[in-house]
Amino acid sequence: LPVGSFTFVLHGAGGDLAKRKIIPALAHLAKSGYFAAESKIIFAQREALSPAEALAQVDAFLQAAGDEAARQSISALLPFLQTLQVVLGTAQSCVAMASAVANCPEPVVHYAALPSSRFIDLINCIPTVRDPARLRLVLEKPLGFNAKESALIEEAVAAKLDESQVYRIDHYLGKQAVQNLLALRLGNRIFEPLLTREHVAHVQITVAEDLGVENRAGFYEHAGALRDMVQSHMLQLLATVAMEPPVSLEANSLRDEKLKVLRSLKVPQVSGIPEIVVGQYCEGYVKGQPVPKYRDEKGVAANSTTETYVSFRTEVQTWRWAGVPFLIRTGKRMPRRFAEIVIQFRDVPKPLFEPVGGQWVGNQLVIHLQPEDKLELKLLAKTPGERERLKPVSLDLDFFNTWRIPVRDAYERLITDILRGRLGLFLRRDEVQTQWQFVDRILNDLKSHGMEPVPYTSGTYGPSSATAMAMRAGAIWSEDGL
Ligand code: BG6
Repeated sequence: LPVGSFTFVLHGAGGDLAKRKIIPALAHLAKSGYFAAESKIIFAQREALSPAEALAQVDAFLQAAGDEAARQSISALLPFLQTLQVVLGTAQSCVAMASAVANCPEPVVHYAALPSSRFIDLINCIPTVRDPARLRLVLEKPLGFNAKESALIEEAVAAKLDESQVYRIDHYLGKQAVQNLLALRLGNRIFEPLLTREHVAHVQITVAEDLGVENRAGFYEHAGALRDMVQSHMLQLLATVAMEPPVSLEANSLRDEKLKVLRSLKVPQVSGIPEIVVGQYCEGYVKGQPVPKYRDEKGVAANSTTETYVSFRTEVQTWRWAGVPFLIRTGKRMPRRFAEIVIQFRDVPKPLFEPVGGQWVGNQLVIHLQPEDKLELKLLAKTPGERERLKPVSLDLDFFNTWRIPVRDAYERLITDILRGRLGLFLRRDEVQTQWQFVDRILNDLKSHGMEPVPYTSGTYGPSSATAMAMRAGAIWSEDGL
């Protein structure tokens, strides 16, 4: 359904994220007829460009990135597009911003596709209007660099806007598989009673990337995998899989339940037998191509101690989950890109059958987020013949093959929700704060114990110490990703 008219100011329109994700999502929505004709999209960036020049830059970027599909839609933005030169932190830019949106349709959405160090400068330019029908603010992650910085930004936001006007993005929540996870858990009777400490042996959450740091060293050198991936994406996936059923699907009901999980997380132990492994990629081969070590990447210090990999064990300390290991893993320069949640069930209390290969695998429910969007239930079935032998077989639910509708990009889904005023897939202030407190604790513990990243070969699944860490939790890391 088309949305009513609006004004969308994209701050940081010249940046990597805007060109790679946000502008293609806006363009695809424009091409699909989502936007009312009077709507306005304003690219705010440092350079003074005409709308045609700005789109030509986006097109060149997408061409270099090999994203031909996105290039097809870009021109659909032209009828809505204005450009605005903004140098944040100057009084003139506040005046320019105010006059650019004067007489434009409301709501005015300010989308901060900026490093969070620029957020306060942007917020200072926004008028105090406590009405979501008139003004909305979208903040990209990471929101600050630690709990303290994030709190300062939040105070500036709260001085001008109500919580109902703030959309804190974690694009993983826009992925269809994550919404399917909620539907699987809360729309079906058969899984929920089994998702407890009585039946689940452990849960694994993996986001593996084949890419390296690319051209983002300026950001990544200071962030590392804990701030970049764990602080939001990994913890939000964990919270979505472990939360109690909410009383409704209304935004605050969902957020209340996720918050309880985030507050109950056990900080992994760094001393003694470690429950955390940090790593940094060195030379290797990914998909048959030689790749350099992290320390040789453009913009990276030769003695950098930034982690490009992290895996750890945590626990959700609630009646439902107490004692069940939750294993979290993310890294760059892994053999391939895949993201999945594996729920490993306990073995039957008394095995009566013989497992093929002599090894019990047990039941697994796997939620594949990417590259495919599918659910897989691994069951044990008797092999044909006389012997009472069991072999794992998969029941698959592939969402594309089921609905035959291409999966919408996460950013498209999130942008439509922002325009429709739906907050359910965005984070509340207290969630972000709790996530930062967890990550800050881990970073401080790593620092105070002098734990530095262990080198791992590019094209592998990280340091071998991570295998041992998982085995201590009774798990073997999944390398399926299919
Ligand atoms: C971003 C991180 O939030 O997520 C990147 O900053 C990472 O480092 C990206 O590559 C992964 O997103 P996706 O959707 O490609 O899995």
